[in-house]
Amino acid sequence: MKLLVTGGAGFIGSNFIYYILDKYTGDEVVCIDVLTYAGNYSTLEEAVKNKNFKFVKGDITDRQLVNELFEAEKFDAVVNFAAESHVDRSIENPEVFLKTNILGTQVLMDACLKYGVKRYHQVSTDEVYGDLPLDRPDLLFTETTPIKTSSPYSASKASADLLVLAYHRTFGLNATISRCSNNYGPYHFPEKLIPLMIINVLNNKPLPVYGKGENVRDWLYVTDHCSAIDLIVRNGRAGEVYNVGGNNEKTNIFIVKTIIKELGASEDLITYVTDRKGHDLRYAIDSTKIQNELGWKPQINFEDGIKKTIKWYLDNKPWWEEIVSGEYKNYYDKMYGNR
Ligand code: NAD
Ligand code: DAU
Repeated sequence: MKLLVTGGAGFIGSNFIYYILDKYTGDEVVCIDVLTYAGNYSTLEEAVKNKNFKFVKGDITDRQLVNELFEAEKFDAVVNFAAESHVDRSIENPEVFLKTNILGTQVLMDACLKYGVKRYHQVSTDEVYGDLPLDRPDLLFTETTPIKTSSPYSASKASADLLVLAYHRTFGLNATISRCSNNYGPYHFPEKLIPLMIINVLNNKPLPVYGKGENVRDWLYVTDHCSAIDLIVRNGRAGEVYNVGGNNEKTNIFIVKTIIKELGASEDLITYVTDRKGHDLRYAIDSTKIQNELGWKPQINFEDGIKKTIKWYLDNKPWWEEIVSGEYKNYYDKMYGNR
């Protein structure tokens, strides 16, 4: 199979590329990534040594470039990870979220139709369902939960999902969608909760917990997300949405305290800061459909996954030190300076 992976220099896309190159030695993978602040070419330095891998620097909203790439490469499948992915940034500046996440999706799907690509997969998020109350643990997101978004980020992802379903119904595009909960693991960009807290502990900096730290996320180790996408791309039914989640709900404060404990630091580092605007309370995924239909099951429990993740950040300091010492420093000062 020849796959186009978009956004493969980011967190989940890069993990997916390594997953595929490792599992299918006969597959070819092309990655298109424009290398925004969140994309890092060095993340792919092992992949570029593989003869079955090719990197193209480019923007998924650039129709001409995308069409030329599709014409030249004749992909069997496209997996779209490319996106603006950080909720806090979408609250500061929504526009680029609409451009990349919605129009980029359209450009890719048009190219799939034009060049006869057999499968288009949209990597979406549980955030399209909005949030669940904290005091109703019985409620979970299923694939039929209505779309009800909170942030410009989730609204852009939901818009893209609706467009994918419309392209399936109206133009017969062979498309699937996955909606996954919060991922964690190697190459996670330092702006997100888990890497931010690990790096701040290692740098003996305050740990900024939004609100009271009671919000709940359902954490899934990134390779378990990759295996789910792989199954959907190969065996999923066209026009279907598949929820992917870890059955692993944790409050933010639990996550922060776990990281502190693993690293032998002091809880005095915890600093409660102004809450995120429109902050979703709780996400929880029912992944019965993908488990029953495609036989997917998460392999890594949270206790092991968080240890592996912390170890990765300890072993790969140059990767994140380069990020946090650059432009990211300005972002951090702006977001957390007066919070
Ligand atoms: P990320 O921010 O780490 O990476 C995004 C990548 O996309 C970067 O490499 C960036 O350079 C690239 N990109 C951005 N705009 C582009 C454009 N116009 N053209 C080409 N490349 C572009 O994001 P992530 O956390 O790896 O998320 C990947 C996908 O998974 C996103 O679609 C996100 O919505 C979805 N998702 C993420 C999570 C999570 O927990 N991180 C959970 C569920 C779904
Ligand atoms: O649920 C899937 C989504 O998970 C993905 O679609 C998004 O791309 C991904 O970024 C993630 O969104 P969240 O907003 O849940 O992730 P984030 O790491 O930004 O925040 C996790 C929780 O931690 C959230 O309740 C906000 C809180 N938080 C976050 C940061 C960065 C803090 O308390 N302090 C922080 O400094």
